[in-house]
Amino acid sequence: MLERLTTPQARPARSTDLYDWDELVQEDRVHRLIYTDPGIFELEMTHIFGAVWVYLGHESQIPKNDDYITVRFGLRPIILLRDSNGKIRALFNRCTHRGTTLCRKDRGSARFFQCPYHGWSFLNTGKLRAVPWPDGYACDFKDAKFNVAQVPRVDSYRGFIFATLNPDAPSLLEYLGPITTPIDEWLDRQPAGKVTVCEANRLKFKGNWKLAYDNSGDGYHVVFSHRSLLEMENRQADVANKGMSYYKGSPDTAPMYMAYMGHGHHFKDKRPNIEKRAGGLWAVEGPCPGMEHYAEELRRRFGAKAEKILDLASSEPVNINVFPNFSLLGNHIQVFEPLAVDETNVTWYGTAVADERGALGGAVDEINALRMRTQEQFPNFGEVDDLANFEEIQRGLACQEDEWVYMHRGLGIPGRVKTDASGIITAPATDEAFMREYIHEWKRLMKATPTLAVQREP
Ligand code: FES
Ligand SMILES: [Fe+2]
Repeated sequence: MLERLTTPQARPARSTDLYDWDELVQEDRVHRLIYTDPGIFELEMTHIFGAVWVYLGHESQIPKNDDYITVRFGLRPIILLRDSNGKIRALFNRCTHRGTTLCRKDRGSARFFQCPYHGWSFLNTGKLRAVPWPDGYACDFKDAKFNVAQVPRVDSYRGFIFATLNPDAPSLLEYLGPITTPIDEWLDRQPAGKVTVCEANRLKFKGNWKLAYDNSGDGYHVVFSHRSLLEMENRQADVANKGMSYYKGSPDTAPMYMAYMGHGHHFKDKRPNIEKRAGGLWAVEGPCPGMEHYAEELRRRFGAKAEKILDLASSEPVNINVFPNFSLLGNHIQVFEPLAVDETNVTWYGTAVADERGALGGAVDEINALRMRTQEQFPNFGEVDDLANFEEIQRGLACQEDEWVYMHRGLGIPGRVKTDASGIITAPATDEAFMREYIHEWKRLMKATPTLAVQREP
């Protein structure tokens, strides 16, 4: 049963017509209000986090029937689960009686959820199962309106689960479009093309969610914002080529590049900076505790084959950014969760390899242990720099009289930004072309009037 939410009551109090979007988002700059205005944030929760495909979680987080995790879809609390028949669903974590959340744990396994308030219980399909002392009610509880609301469209791409409330949105595959190529390449370097999600670094910043998405493809800030990390990565190295040292000097002459791939998605490809050979990635991995011990042990056991295995513990030099809330970077899945106009969760999920076919010759545990060490590095030594920037931008944007944020690096220089026959735009790594493109997609979505719907079991 699909309920289309087209009544004025179901829409945000503010109308999209209140804003002059062409004034707020121009060719080379955006107005500070897009980061600071609570009304724009409220509209984003339906026009963006509602109307487009939003990342919710990974299939390996709910591997068995009845497994669930609790996540957010914009501001909506969601129970993402695999029901007792194996179907993946995104239930609104909201009791149909008086509205409280039904599930307050991060994860678990449940065939049904009992509301903590008055004890109504719901099957993991969302269907109402039982109500305490039903003889106190005159209504028919078979009415579908008492079943939990759920997101009508939930789909996965190779294990990554996305959802949208918009019945008119394109298919997930169409929405992702050419960004599936780097996603495939990221997965296909893992044994059997698969990862499993492990624990996460959970971070938060006092700033607008778009500041994180703006930065996710930004190659301009690296040597300035992450100077201490770049120095640390090379302090003990004989040859100063570890980690992100390819940013030093003139990053625009390095072979890396950025690409804009439509629908707000963009990709920074740093792989061309790395020597293409087995062990090439491991050779530039930054220092982490115990790495020499593991490398020696694996080389002793596997000889020349160890190099390829060690590459799996190394960070993949890519930033694959799927609008609006998902990034693959290094070996992490990074998720942005807006909480308020000036508050955002940034969660870095680590990933492990799952060597189901034994391609790693029994080294899977060592590789995952080492991979966990290498994955501790950026969220602890790099992301903190970024979050400090985001918070300081939000503070700077409080200057109401100084209105504009510029994103024109690379604009107007003949031959610098290129568009290929399929519409993919490429530019040097420090260009802001990806920001200009995605924010114009954002503007298009903010101007539109999407249809949103929820579904309930019949
Ligand atoms: S609010 Fe859930 S049973 Fe009352
Ligand atoms: Fe950064």
